[in-house]
Amino acid sequence: MEIDRRIKIAPSILSADFADFGREIQAIEAQGADWVHVDVMDGHFVPNLTFGPPAVAAFRRHVKTVMDVHLMIAPVDPYIDAYAQAGADILTAHVEAGPHIHRTLQAIRGAGMKAGVALNPGTPAEAVAHLLDLADLVCVMTVNPGFGGQSFIDMTDKIRALRAMIGDRPIHIEIDGGVTPQTAPLVARAGADVLVAGSAVFKGGSVENPAPYGMNIHAIRVAAESIEV
Ligand code: DX5
Ligand code: ZN
Repeated sequence: MEIDRRIKIAPSILSADFADFGREIQAIEAQGADWVHVDVMDGHFVPNLTFGPPAVAAFRRHVKTVMDVHLMIAPVDPYIDAYAQAGADILTAHVEAGPHIHRTLQAIRGAGMKAGVALNPGTPAEAVAHLLDLADLVCVMTVNPGFGGQSFIDMTDKIRALRAMIGDRPIHIEIDGGVTPQTAPLVARAGADVLVAGSAVFKGGSVENPAPYGMNIHAIRVAAESIEV
């Protein structure tokens, strides 16, 4: 099966105005976002706490593109059905979140969603070698998860290794953390096709003045596309 390997920009609403998610989602989509990235944190797997299924269900009403939900929680399995009900298109769980990621990915697909598997910076590419037939997306963290606005950690070797491992399989490679117009070409050249960006998309704009969102998305896209593959 062929998948769309063109660059997709997925703004993380972790950098949006938390009192105005509906209009923020509408603004980033109107300004060219391809997907909407939703960072779910539990204050346990990562040292920060964001939102749960009822909030994600409320976001869904505004998302016209793809709702890409990144779970930074442990355990994952008891919440899979709740995120399916909330309307996630893609649900991503971390390899490090528990001993049974294989079962978790099966359960995510079983609940009707696309399954993503995320790797912390300290986890090698090989951790997903036996999961590729169960995954629609591999998310390579280029920061230690928990907070927006951190500096990019170079994982280009890992991205290249994953790209080779994936071969012709219909699996997206997503990069999450510290993506800017400066770092986007590095990860795109290594084989990534989905670029999550929080602070680099939302900086300088607001729902009242959304044009900077569009300029920021465009700058990341142009930088990522201006590479020789
Ligand atoms: C980090 C989150 C990211 C984060 C990216 O834990 O998973 O999605 O919001 O933010 P920036 O682009 O600001 O690094
Ligand atoms: Zn994320």
